[in-house]
Amino acid sequence: KYVDPLPQMARIQGYGINQFGFPVPTNLTIGMYNKTWQFHRDMPPTPVFVYGQSLQTATFPGPTIVARYNVPLYVTWENHLPDAHILPWDPTVPTAIPKNGGVPTVVHLHGAAQAPDSDGHAFAWFTRDFAENGSTWTQKTYTYPNVQPAAGNIWYHDHALGLTRASLLAGLLAAYIVEWPELEMPFNLPSGEFDLHLVIADRKFNVDGTIFMDTVGAVPSVHPQWQPEYFGEVITVNGKAWPFQAVQRRRYRLRILNASNARYLNIRFSNGLPFTVIASDATYLSRPVTVSNLLLSPAEIFDVIVDFSLVVNPNATDIELLNSAPYPFPTGTPANATLDGKVMAFNVSAKWQVGDDMPMQEPENSTVVPEIGVPFAKVTALPPTMKTRYIVLYENMTSNDPNTAKTMNLYINGLRLEDPPTETPISGTTELWHVINLTPDNHPLHLHLAEFQAVQMLQLVDPDTFKSCMLKHNDTFACNLDQHAVGALQPVPEEEKTWKNVVKIPPAYVTSVVVAFRLVHNNMPYPFDATAAPGYVYHCHILDHEDNAMIRPLTLLP
Ligand code: C2O
Ligand code: CU
Repeated sequence: KYVDPLPQMARIQGYGINQFGFPVPTNLTIGMYNKTWQFHRDMPPTPVFVYGQSLQTATFPGPTIVARYNVPLYVTWENHLPDAHILPWDPTVPTAIPKNGGVPTVVHLHGAAQAPDSDGHAFAWFTRDFAENGSTWTQKTYTYPNVQPAAGNIWYHDHALGLTRASLLAGLLAAYIVEWPELEMPFNLPSGEFDLHLVIADRKFNVDGTIFMDTVGAVPSVHPQWQPEYFGEVITVNGKAWPFQAVQRRRYRLRILNASNARYLNIRFSNGLPFTVIASDATYLSRPVTVSNLLLSPAEIFDVIVDFSLVVNPNATDIELLNSAPYPFPTGTPANATLDGKVMAFNVSAKWQVGDDMPMQEPENSTVVPEIGVPFAKVTALPPTMKTRYIVLYENMTSNDPNTAKTMNLYINGLRLEDPPTETPISGTTELWHVINLTPDNHPLHLHLAEFQAVQMLQLVDPDTFKSCMLKHNDTFACNLDQHAVGALQPVPEEEKTWKNVVKIPPAYVTSVVVAFRLVHNNMPYPFDATAAPGYVYHCHILDHEDNAMIRPLTLLP
């Protein structure tokens, strides 16, 4: 551990500058490549699938695209992958399967608002050189209007039907930033070398150094390969196993993304150094929140300020970033203190003292944490009339469950992705969704296009009785949800009270979320036709769940 320095991914400018110095739209071409990547100094190079502007520059994670608020970016995504996947997959879960081989891919910009034909629909996949494509594929170049509000910490990743867990595991993931200088300049946040991405992902490796993925399923008679969750004991950050980062005694901005397939992360510093959370997912908080630990579900993002000048020991000091989340979360195996319980190290420089050579860089804090964030972040009052929906999360893990003919699947409202859309909000409106978790696991709910936030978490006192009724009738009213949801109210953590792209849904709770099918910062409708085909999807962001098949269509109506 702690022998490889933390790399930072290359940043690609996602806008041009015109003759008057103003940002203007631009085009990028980004490819998917098969190459090798060294996850650790002492490990052999490992085959990966990665994004890049060329084979030579492709990295794990891919390059960070830096776009500008309200400046469209056009990206042509090219598939240069070989005939076969480098990891096992399972044709018995709903999967993109081309007739003539090749690896189906489609890119989703997660956390951004774009038209359906640029959203990376699961059926809009394509193989190498666009040789074959899925039923909703229409175009090679995607348009990203970049109109969602800052803080703009989002990411792009593969989304091909049934292959998402294998293709992200192989490396098709990368960060994306939407800058909004007019909004952000007054915050005076740490920038340049003091602004670091931490893209965290767990992996398991074979002894020959290749990425391990199960070849045999949990119940192979039903699904020969599919496992309900992938976990690895090696924690990688920006593509290195347990790296280290040298830091000065000053404030840093850390953009932390949990890009793991299924692992939750509960992170804290070994010396108790606090995180000041300034943003989560796509938006700044209405005010910064200081916490000692942070719980990140897969695909969840926290943007924090860490002040290393608070380290007490004046000598050069190494501190660790630790993880204590059980897997699966919350009731699985505890993290191992020497393996997945460690994330990375920060080597804090010695304190400058009179008589020392003056440091090259001013070590004092030169930035402040903004006192006031953005006014649109927190929902403080619900609109009086709002369309209400009930979303029920099931896990059906036995191969012969008498209650349902659909076996070994994880469904939303008992329905498959292919079943007709039932969530059909009117574009421009706001809705209230009660998400009922009848499983023992926490699930990270993700909606494409919309931003949403939890306003209430209410415990189900008798989830088993309620569940057996739901499995028979699939009707929250017939099953008297009101009489079951009468347990403890769990507060929504302060650092999550903002517009998010992922909300954690705890087991045996009804989590009520406000969902905005509009732009939240200016109350405007989307500046594109969100009602066009093929529409959007919403799903659980545990990728093994999403693939089988905790995913449903999201179809907006005019
Ligand atoms: Cu991050 Cu539908 O995905
Ligand atoms: Cu799930």
